[in-house]
Amino acid sequence: MTRPTNDTFLRALLREPVEYTPIWLMRQAGRYLPEYNETRRRAGSFLDLCKTPQLACEATLQPLARFDLDAAILFSDILTVPDAMGLGLYFAEGEGPRFERPLRSEWEIRDLTAPDPNVHLRYVMDAVAEIRRALNHSLPLIGFSGSPWTLACYMVEGGSSADYRLVKTMLYDRPDLLHRILDVTTTAVTDYLNAQIESGVQAVMIFDSWGGALSHAAYREFSLSYMERIVAGLKKSHGGERVPSIVFTKGGGQWLEAIAAIGCDAVGLDWTTDLGEARQRIGHRVALQGNLDPMALFASPQQVAAEACRVLDSFGAGSGHVFNLGHGISQFTPPEHVTALVDAVHSHSRRGSGN
Ligand code: CP3
Repeated sequence: MTRPTNDTFLRALLREPVEYTPIWLMRQAGRYLPEYNETRRRAGSFLDLCKTPQLACEATLQPLARFDLDAAILFSDILTVPDAMGLGLYFAEGEGPRFERPLRSEWEIRDLTAPDPNVHLRYVMDAVAEIRRALNHSLPLIGFSGSPWTLACYMVEGGSSADYRLVKTMLYDRPDLLHRILDVTTTAVTDYLNAQIESGVQAVMIFDSWGGALSHAAYREFSLSYMERIVAGLKKSHGGERVPSIVFTKGGGQWLEAIAAIGCDAVGLDWTTDLGEARQRIGHRVALQGNLDPMALFASPQQVAAEACRVLDSFGAGSGHVFNLGHGISQFTPPEHVTALVDAVHSHSRRGSGN
């Protein structure tokens, strides 16, 4: 197998030379795009959209038709894994994700098993294959999963939570039960990401969206150690090409050295960490991905461009940087401001930072 025609993103992750800084955006397909809302309407619901490979493929390609992005990301959700574990995912209008059967009792936790991704998440593998065909080697496709801790937050809380009261009560009172959930989920995520790689994704990202809510000690014990197990279990190459991995703990900047040491190729950072300082701390061990504040996209296109240059300059010259937001794009973002961002990243990095 060969690399895509535009392989700048893969080269930056592997810290190979690049002509400019590649950019993609977390949640680049979504409600800020009118064409996405139209596709979702046709699907009937967000979950039906995820579960229909042809429509998931359509949503994946939409941001690429509008913006000069350097990578595609599979259109899906992190919560399809607990759904495949039997928890019954649904989205209540205006309330975000919910589970019909959250994990509350000891017997439910003891009974939990890792699903076979090629059976229970077949629709994801079919979407990956369809997207790869549609991309026709133009751009790399990113696959992803939630981290075990972030998935456990939803599985125990039963939905989004402001304070993680239930899952943290379990962490402090019954760590054995939480470790059991994390252990099974780690197997599930490893199998799931490897199945995505075999179906054709060319890089993988682990979203540890709520790792930053943990104490210093709990982060290592309940989040990082499980991500380390996943990274160790990932297929490192497919069809003769390396498949790089990115680990993103939102709020995890203070643990950068520890994250960089688990064997991943790149670390994602939110906007609270300075990229230049992060680079000094980790040296050449990993690439860095980030880290514009998604709210910066609400400023004028001129200011968006200025903030993009600030992020590029903070990283400085040389390869090993993938431009991204520090978290998912807001549903209220004006699409024209994304155009301004992508153009500024490409032109400033070609000119300025001497990549
Ligand atoms: O990046 C991409 O474009 C790929 C698609 C993607 C989605 N969710 C689509 C989505 C990815 C990578 C995710 C990951 C995800 N999902 C995370 C981790 C990243 C992060 O944001 O921290 C989390 C925590 C979830 C769980 C989730 N899914 C929540 C909390 C919500 C509701 C919040 C919201 O924005 O409404 C979702 C729904 C969701 N996932 C939407 C999209 C486009 C919106 C659904 C809709 O169309 O109504």
